[in-house]
This record gives sequence, structure tokens and C-alpha cells, in this order.
Amino acid sequence: MSKQRVLTGITTTGTPHLGNYVGAIRPAIEASRDTNNESFYFLADFHALIKCQDPAAVHQSTTEIAATWLALGLDTDNAVFYRQSDIPEIPQLTWLLSCVCSKGLMNRAHAYKGAVDANIAEGEDADKAITMGLFSYPVLMAADILMFGAHQVPVGKDQIQHVEMARDMAQRFNHIYCKKTPLMTLPNYQVDDNVAVLQGLDGRKMSKSYGNTIPLFLPEKKLQKHINKIKTNLLEPGEAKDPDTSTVFQLWKAFANEQQTAEMRQAFADGIGWGDAKKQLCALVNEEIAEARERYEDLMSRPADIEAILQQGAEKARAVSVPMLAEARKAVGIYGLG
Ligand code: TRP
Repeated sequence: MSKQRVLTGITTTGTPHLGNYVGAIRPAIEASRDTNNESFYFLADFHALIKCQDPAAVHQSTTEIAATWLALGLDTDNAVFYRQSDIPEIPQLTWLLSCVCSKGLMNRAHAYKGAVDANIAEGEDADKAITMGLFSYPVLMAADILMFGAHQVPVGKDQIQHVEMARDMAQRFNHIYCKKTPLMTLPNYQVDDNVAVLQGLDGRKMSKSYGNTIPLFLPEKKLQKHINKIKTNLLEPGEAKDPDTSTVFQLWKAFANEQQTAEMRQAFADGIGWGDAKKQLCALVNEEIAEARERYEDLMSRPADIEAILQQGAEKARAVSVPMLAEARKAVGIYGLG
């Protein structure tokens, strides 16, 4: 069987947190070790501009996210690891896809629709503060995916619709331009239900937009401080606690093996104090990430080396994107005369 091409993008806003690690980075790095897969992972920095107009923040986040993936052991000999903006073919394909993508489809994209609905609810103009970037975001994402002929696109639930839209655009393009041999591979989304969606400090989903995250590579003391801020109830040591409604236990489970999980479940029943449970949680998380944190700090101190790795990745990615774009241009009738 030919290899499955697995592709996903990481928008370069914010600092990676435990939720990103457990929900996306750890499973992606594991998947990249599977020799049946060919992994393409990239920093979606053009997508970042839709959410963030602070240049220093976009730049810093790009450095931090690249360093995080490398520090956690992404093997860049196996996986193609690159930055979206280093692939000049992507914006060109975005345009070709824009010209087969109906506006009505984009009207239904939930990020855009949500912004319109919020404006209307507030009695504002429907399009207030909505950029063309936000509106056509799914076309850029489709270009990311279709450029590399991805079969599988691991994403969070909120991105399923975008992968379906990419599939739609691929079908439109094939239907209009490639009746005989379809050029575009139809992608599938991959949502892993076994991967935990972590709760944040306040018990809601851990997310930068809620300001409730625990950054991944905090020094141990700060990690403990953050963990101490996790919301708990007022039960005292000695009183039995319910693990299944506890954020502390949920985080524990995401880092523990089966036996450790069973032991902590018992400790909750036996009335472990919150302070004690949080201490143990910090030690467990720290054990898993301590080595990577050292590598992270080292990488962050030599960004030029990160850059060199990204350039090598871009070279490998362009070995695919250059011929693909040439095919796509030819399909639409844009190629040399004579
Ligand atoms: N939009 C995705 C997110 O916000 C990031 C992304 C950009 C992406 N391009 C992609 C994900 C292509 C998968 C495939 O999470």
C-alpha cells in the first residue's frame, strides 16, 4: 500500500500550552514515527495574520512553536516540517481555488458566520471588523492541504468544516479542469476521540482565548504555581473527592500510565488533599517534559539554527509544491506559449 500522507498546520499565535501538547503535538509526533505515514507539519503563519496583527507576537510565536516541536522530538528526517510562508506556491494555489470556490460556501464557514452573528446581535453593521482574510481563510487552508495531496488531516473538532470545504474545492477543481485524471486528492479529516481535550485552570476547555492555559515549558517552580491555580472545591484533606469532575484528575490522566491513574483514583476516594494532589501532578508533568524543556531553552537561544531546519523543510516541501502548482496552472490554461 502506498503511504498515507498526513498533514496538519499550527497557527502561529500564542505560546504552546499543555492542552496543545496533549491534544495535538504529542499525538502528531507519535504519528510521524509510523512508517506507513508520510507526515507534513507546518507553521501556518499566514493564517496567524487573520487573528493577530501584532508583528512581534507573530514572530515570537513562530519561534516558540518551531522550538517546541523540535524539542519534543519531531524527527525532521521523517517528517517534513516547514513554514507556510516559505512556500510561495501556496498563495498562488489559493487564488486558483478561490476562482472555483463559491462565495456561498464561504458564507457558511463558522468562524465568519459567528463573527457576523455577533455583529448583528450587537446591532452593528454585519461586516464590522471582518477582513477578507477571515472570510477566505478556508481557501488558504484548502491550498495548504491540496498542494501536498494530503489523505489525512488531523484537526480539532472546530476545524472539521474547513477540511470538508477543502474536499469540496478539490472536487470542484477536478470536475471543471481534470475530467480525465483528477489532480486534487480528496482529503479526510481525522479527529482522534481518544485524545483528551484538556480543561484549563477554570475548568473550561484549555484555550488561549479563555486565558486559562498552563504554558508547556514553564520552569518547574512556575509550573507548580500555575497548577496550584487550578480551580477545586472546598473539600478538606480526608474527605473523599470525585475524580471524574476534577480538572486536577483529568490532567493527571493525560500524563499518567494506567496504574498511576488507578492509584490516583484511589487516593481521591481516600481523601487526598488538593495541595498534595497538585504537588504530585506537577511532579508527573515535570517528569514527562523536563528533558524537552532543556532542549527547548537551548533551541530558543539559537534561533538561527531553527531557521536552518525550517529552510531544509521548505526545500523538501517545495519538491512537492513546485511540480503540483505547475500541473494546476496547466490545468487552468496558464502556461508558456509556443
Ligand atoms: N486552521 C487551523 C487551525 O486554526 C490551522 C491550519 C492552517 C491547518 N492550515 C491547515 C490545519 C491545514 C490543518 C490543515 O487550527
